[in-house]
Amino acid sequence: MTSKTEFYYMDDDVTQPFTAPHNSGKATPVEELLKLGVLYFQYPELEQVNELAKQRHYKNRDHIELSKEKIPEDVLNEKLKIFYEEHLHEDEEIRYIVDGEGYFDVRDLQDRWIRCKVVANDLLILPEGIYHRFTLTDKFYVKAIRLFQDEPKWIAINRAELDKGGEIARQQYLASVSA
Ligand code: LAC
Ligand code: NI
Repeated sequence: MTSKTEFYYMDDDVTQPFTAPHNSGKATPVEELLKLGVLYFQYPELEQVNELAKQRHYKNRDHIELSKEKIPEDVLNEKLKIFYEEHLHEDEEIRYIVDGEGYFDVRDLQDRWIRCKVVANDLLILPEGIYHRFTLTDKFYVKAIRLFQDEPKWIAINRAELDKGGEIARQQYLASVSA
């Protein structure tokens, strides 16, 4: 049960660290994620990832490993703090989990947090303009591939600073999910 993909609404227990499961007990059906434009695949073979990259014209990728063994604890904590800031991107975010596990939290249209627990072989696509954040689980270990359409870059616009350029992506996203 511990190393399985799960989607659920988060609880708001502030006494627990953000790497705790925060499972409210209310599961989120995968159709709900689809409505938000979030796509989820299980790809046991890297070839399947390559095929998806080709179809979507993604030319680049990098490998990222977050663990207490590989990264000094203060640096890791600093990274996690940044990844856990609620943000959006002006491009899709595609992540493929090679090993370990993590939590991607996405906002639904009522502004509730849905937590997506991802494990090895999971590929998650977050649409441009969706509010989200990421953290490790209490295992503090993930190895992932980040796909990029062009050169690897990472630009996050925090929700609190939307006026610095993310408003169009946000409006387009809202238009795309309101049917
Ligand atoms: C990312 C995760 C932190 O943007 O959302 O890579
Ligand atoms: Ni992101």
